[in-house]
Amino acid sequence: MLNYKGITKNTLISDLNIPNLKSYIHSNSEILLEMDKLKNEIQDSANTLLVIGVGGSFLGARAVIDALTPYFRTQNNMEIIYAGNNMSGAYLQQLLAYLDSKEVYVNVISKSGSTMEPALAFRIVKQYMEQRYGFEARQRIIVTTDAKMGILKQIADQEGYRQFDVPENVGGRYSVFTPVGLLPIAVAGIDIEQFLKGAEVAEQDFSTVAVEQNAAAHYALTRYELYKKGYAVELLASFEPRLNKLHEWWKQLFGESEGKEHKGLYPSTVNYSTDLHAIGQFIQEGSPIMFETLIHFSDIEEDIAVPYIEEDLDGLNYLAGHTLNQINATSKDGVALAHEEGGVPVMKLELPKLDAYHIGYLMMFFMKACVISASLLEVNPFDQPGVEAYKVKMVKLLQKDASKLPNF
Ligand code: PA5
Repeated sequence: MLNYKGITKNTLISDLNIPNLKSYIHSNSEILLEMDKLKNEIQDSANTLLVIGVGGSFLGARAVIDALTPYFRTQNNMEIIYAGNNMSGAYLQQLLAYLDSKEVYVNVISKSGSTMEPALAFRIVKQYMEQRYGFEARQRIIVTTDAKMGILKQIADQEGYRQFDVPENVGGRYSVFTPVGLLPIAVAGIDIEQFLKGAEVAEQDFSTVAVEQNAAAHYALTRYELYKKGYAVELLASFEPRLNKLHEWWKQLFGESEGKEHKGLYPSTVNYSTDLHAIGQFIQEGSPIMFETLIHFSDIEEDIAVPYIEEDLDGLNYLAGHTLNQINATSKDGVALAHEEGGVPVMKLELPKLDAYHIGYLMMFFMKACVISASLLEVNPFDQPGVEAYKVKMVKLLQKDASKLPNF
């Protein structure tokens, strides 16, 4: 049993609000209507939405879309693809060639409007769209950026693009419930009303000051206690491959919010059972520096049963009649038992249905927990001075060397 004495700051939990977010998840009828209209327009005129953005400007949407859309796309499904999150020339060159056979809309997302990766990608994609669609490109490019400032805002005004605002003071990694996340998620065909409903209920649940009734505070305090005992790495694990990108979003949320002033837990992720056959050995018997948080959804719509086969050549008839999801759930319990025995503390996050409501609920859970956790570490959860440092150095080097680069 953990002793919360001294670290349960009731006032702290009730004061820990994510700036501007409440207004978004509570009064959303206007934004829902706008998103719905735009979704219908895009679905009528295109089969591909290209989302340009990096970090918090795309990871949230990607996490939700991957979690809630089929593994294998059918021809009729809207495809959401991504650019501006790397600087690979090969990636962008191949992407443009791929787009040639698609009908395309673009959503470029950048709060600052000047981040190098999306800015470069957008420059190239803008030219592509203009060459391909002429004047109609203006209709097909949608900008999500700051309401007042930034180069992207200026370009959008000048070109007459439709614009959505990133609410003031909402940093990228806390922006999935704003148009940053909502537009791509809606276009992918996901019920954003349910997604926001889940977030709204979680926001209320995790604002309660009684730690025992507040799972987000409980999670934050537990990981803080473990951190103080020397467990410097948190492994987030799940058993459903479509949650991979949710892991990436979580990694950024906690890494960028907590990792400063030489403090913070290192957020790492694994996908089971794949990684049990890769990094499982280290987790079980390697350096005792990590604890594990297991995410499990008990109700996943699609499933398949193990068939009974008379010959039983593979000896698996003892599992006949069971479904793969049932077997997967049992493997989760086996993993927890084995890892605990190996000295790895295990927390379990059990959720019912893998749907828009519960993904919204889970993401808000993590956001609330992250803010509480950063406050326990006494760091600011909303800035990212270390990321800015790399951007400044890179631009300086590029300005110095750009004139020496060969032209294509
Ligand atoms: O969470 C954050 O604030 C960052 O990851 C940003 O989202 C990322 O650096 C991209 O910034 P911008 O939206 O200004 O292009």
